[in-house]
Amino acid sequence: MLDRNNELKELAIKEIEMHRETVERDPYRPAFHLMPPVGLLNDPNGFIQWKGTYHVFFQWMPFKTEHGAKFWGHYTSKDLVNWELAPIALTPGDWYDKNGCYSGSAVVHDNKMKLFYTGNVKDENGNRETYQCVAESEDGIHFDKKGVVVELPEGYTPHFRDPKVWKHLDKWYMVIGTQDLSEEGRIVLYESSDLREWTFKGDVTASGQEPIGDLGYMWECPDLFELDGKDILLFSPQGLEGNGYLYQNVYQTGYLSGELDYASGKMSHGAFTELDRGFEFYAPQTTLDENGRRLVIGWMGVPEQGEEHHPTIAHKWIHILTIPRELHYEGNQLFQRPAAELEAMRHSDITKNVSLSNERKEWSELNGAVYELLVQLNKVEETFSVTIRNNATMTYDATKSVLTFKRKSFVNGEEETRSCLIESVNELRFYVDSSSIEVFVNDGKEVFTSRFFPEEYNESLVFEADGHSTFQVTKWLLK
Ligand code: FRU
Repeated sequence: MLDRNNELKELAIKEIEMHRETVERDPYRPAFHLMPPVGLLNDPNGFIQWKGTYHVFFQWMPFKTEHGAKFWGHYTSKDLVNWELAPIALTPGDWYDKNGCYSGSAVVHDNKMKLFYTGNVKDENGNRETYQCVAESEDGIHFDKKGVVVELPEGYTPHFRDPKVWKHLDKWYMVIGTQDLSEEGRIVLYESSDLREWTFKGDVTASGQEPIGDLGYMWECPDLFELDGKDILLFSPQGLEGNGYLYQNVYQTGYLSGELDYASGKMSHGAFTELDRGFEFYAPQTTLDENGRRLVIGWMGVPEQGEEHHPTIAHKWIHILTIPRELHYEGNQLFQRPAAELEAMRHSDITKNVSLSNERKEWSELNGAVYELLVQLNKVEETFSVTIRNNATMTYDATKSVLTFKRKSFVNGEEETRSCLIESVNELRFYVDSSSIEVFVNDGKEVFTSRFFPEEYNESLVFEADGHSTFQVTKWLLK
């Protein structure tokens, strides 16, 4: 009998081969972001560095550009810049994961890499079941599934998933994103001394608790780590109402900072803060690399947020991951900065010192589709803006202290915006890659992450000022 996992693997490989050219011909293909070889990619999973090699796995549906029974695809890199597609890591071919090897994480123990993930199961009536599972590898490339290690405890619905595992002193811990029976989001904690037997410790925190108040009906993709003297709980809550500039996407991502009491499993923490201000950022995962850096990668997408309108679907693929970023906690907030390794992609730099007064300006040598652009602002009297490829505009309005990212919607072509309040802007660093823009503001204090789908032949870059603005701009081509 042909093993179901091998069968699925072979079918997925065929799918990659069948659509390779269609995918490669897409002008919206990124030059330096991770994308699926075919089909749909969502959350980054199992982010880890082991024996010098970085591993990023990803939620993957090879057979269509919609969600479904997910595989774990796999990329590896020595330098966070050059990535290689590795063999498929996990296939949903067992009774406990037959409707998807859902999100999870990786650790190394006893010279083996272990993947913890959620086995998603729908019974014959369509009811959901959930199993936290483990798979092991000696080489970080070929994985053997070892089955279920945690079953659904009482008090939670089967929306119970996305195990993130880490070591603290001599014990292992696992956080899981959940929904309780009254449909409030929660994060639960487990403890283990051997990575096989897990003890339920209870809720780390929950929607409804002070000082966060009501924070949605389901919390996905938790990550708990120590950074610069604080414990940070990063997660993606669902069910928040938009509130001014906050919570404008269909689902959000943000964090709590404070202290986890490992004995009781409870975390004392402050208010919830959104991590990103752009249109597409969700389900990020961090890792502590071999240099002691806390790196993060996110999915540059949001579930159910216009996904079926992405133009790349015509080329048989959808979604990308963000660039790898370094996290820091400074002055009561997280900062995200592009991983320093990305500087190796730079070449052919151009610098200009500019002064604009109530005018627009464009220099054809700054045009492009794949580049890094650094704008250092000395002075903004009223408003300053940068428009990329006649589609997306970043505007700082100094009279209101509001920073706004505007793009043409890929659903209906109309302009839509995301904004945040910020007292002054002295630096905007753009990573532009064919169909994505990541903007790091004031050295990562705020970040706007979004997709955009400009006209293929428009590669313009336009600067504009109302009142007087002076700035220096540096542009590098990348790769
Ligand atoms: C987040 C998520 C996770 C789940 C996975 C399934 O985007 O919904 O909670 O494990 O995607 O692909």
